[in-house]
Amino acid sequence: MKKRVFAGIRATGRLHLGNYLGAVKGMLQLQDNPQYEALYMVADVHTITTPYNVQGLRINRREAIVDYLAAGLDPKKSILFLQAQVPEHAELAFYFGSVTTIARMQHLPTFKDKVKQYPHDVTMALLNYPLLMAADILLYKAGLVPVGIDQEPHLEVAREIARKMNQEYGMNFPEPVRFATKGSYIPSLNGEGKMSKTVEGSFINLTDSVDVIRKKVRSVPTATTSGGEMNPGVKTLFAFADLFIPNELNKYKKEYENGTLQFVTLKDAIADAIYKDLQPFQEKRNEIIKNQEYIDQVIKEGAEKARSIASQTVMEVKEKMGLS
Ligand code: TRP
Repeated sequence: MKKRVFAGIRATGRLHLGNYLGAVKGMLQLQDNPQYEALYMVADVHTITTPYNVQGLRINRREAIVDYLAAGLDPKKSILFLQAQVPEHAELAFYFGSVTTIARMQHLPTFKDKVKQYPHDVTMALLNYPLLMAADILLYKAGLVPVGIDQEPHLEVAREIARKMNQEYGMNFPEPVRFATKGSYIPSLNGEGKMSKTVEGSFINLTDSVDVIRKKVRSVPTATTSGGEMNPGVKTLFAFADLFIPNELNKYKKEYENGTLQFVTLKDAIADAIYKDLQPFQEKRNEIIKNQEYIDQVIKEGAEKARSIASQTVMEVKEKMGLS
């Protein structure tokens, strides 16, 4: 039996280099490993749990599919779909509400963070975020969830719900666990923390041109002279050198140590290497967007495949809960 893997992808905007080398590479490995059956879902319904722009969502959910296709997700190997097209997600989340207390949801750190961020928009949808995520995973009875450590509290909720549904209604939900995939840690261009969509000036978009990438890498705050202890910006630069020009790393390190390194030379070498890495993605993306019907078809077929599994689970839940 194949192990089922489920990942939800936020529909908030374009992929950046950090997502690509961190999360997406791991997703590709899973899809190519015959031990696993992978489902990848664009979590568009989750977007409406905090204030959002309607036209933006309409565009972003489709762009997310295009980005993942260009990155190498293959609809022949994994199920790639939009959450909103499988109404069973919202339906199961509602049923899960009957085995979940309000207090449990209010105490989640993720909920508290959002309350701070949007004090005037603390909606029922926001409170229900973890239930919708539990439904995403449990609809497919997936046991493995490749997500970041920040999602652990949500997975704990999913496990609790699985246990309750199994005990109270005799369901056979697995208790899903986080699955750490091998991705690299990509530092922020500003020298602090990791590359993040929400931090301006920290990221490189996968569709950035070579000029834009050069400009961004040049903006990494380095020192004016080389040598001595490395400041965070210089460390960041060498972390990028390690990732993208590993063969030249030592050469540049020596130059740094003996004080002859020209930062702009190193920066441009890194920028050019990043661009070279992204070129296949960009070319593939340009091909894909020429064929909008193909995208439509991927979306439609993905939803059909997902629904055929999801509807079975919902039928089973309704039957056990006395709703059919
Ligand atoms: N909450 C996840 C995040 O913020 C996205 C997500 C939604 C998800 N549904 C999921 C992740 C199901 C894993 C499984 O990244």
